[in-house]
Amino acid sequence: MRLAGKLAAVAIAALVAGCGPAKDDGKTVVGFSQIGSESGWRAAETKMARKAAQDRGVDLRIDDAQQKQENQIRAVRAFIAQGVDAIFLAPVVATGWDAVLKEAKAAKVPVVLLDRLIETPDESLYLSAVASDSVEEGRVAGNWLVGALAGKPCRVVEIQGTVGASVATNRKQGFGEAVAKGPGVQIVRSQTGDFTRAKAKEVMESFIKAEGAANICAVYAHNDDMMIGAIQAMKEAGMKPGKDVLTVSIDAVPDIFKAMADGDANATVELTPDMAGPALDLLAQYRKDGKAPRKWVQTESKLYTPETAAAEYARRKDMY
Ligand code: AHR
Repeated sequence: MRLAGKLAAVAIAALVAGCGPAKDDGKTVVGFSQIGSESGWRAAETKMARKAAQDRGVDLRIDDAQQKQENQIRAVRAFIAQGVDAIFLAPVVATGWDAVLKEAKAAKVPVVLLDRLIETPDESLYLSAVASDSVEEGRVAGNWLVGALAGKPCRVVEIQGTVGASVATNRKQGFGEAVAKGPGVQIVRSQTGDFTRAKAKEVMESFIKAEGAANICAVYAHNDDMMIGAIQAMKEAGMKPGKDVLTVSIDAVPDIFKAMADGDANATVELTPDMAGPALDLLAQYRKDGKAPRKWVQTESKLYTPETAAAEYARRKDMY
């Protein structure tokens, strides 16, 4: 491309993100390509990212990709064109990032992955990742179920997250490994609910229709929002989730604690929504000393059950 053409392309890309050039007031500028607002956890992550940036005096520019990888790729290009100091990327799916991350690397813009991982043969394309061990999250959920069943056989239905997302693939794997150790525990249906309540409610309705309400012994959902949708579907079908049907999901958002306190849910595995805070801290350190940070900053995966649900709900309801 000739120079005039290149300059025009850069200006257009900057306009796409709706922002002017970076670094006008000496602040660190970070572009954050966020997935969207599919769940309560995601909304909390965005809220906490704004707060973390504000507390640290960072100019954080958030682009909402509305669950679409092509929007994320466009946003990353726009951030590069703006000359941001770094990019945070929550990748909606695991593959297809190499080309745009090579562009970021060539422009010397470090990229930090938040909460989901990518598949790439070249790990130098990102500086670090702040994320949980999502295989372990699935294992924690599965081990809880095997323990709760205490040797009883069980027909389990699974509601998966977004197809191709690292967390969906891994949570499925970890849970599958854990329940394989439970005698007579079988995953009889498994389908995506795309991490949303509405879709998961429809999926659960179809599971109930196909299996028969009396033949479902437990529900595993890859996030709490989908479990809330599934609980609604079960109640409408006259089932008693949390009592006759065991439930376990992931995130630990306030609504699932409310459901546990009400006796409608049994367990959740925590995923902290504070991903941007640790990412901003490692970025500040990197900009100070130039030393490569840890490639993976692993967040905790803690199990919660009804005993502490009321207290956890009270503690979290305004935090999220
Ligand atoms: O990547 C994290 C997952 O994405 C959360 O568990 C889910 O709620 C969100 O949509």
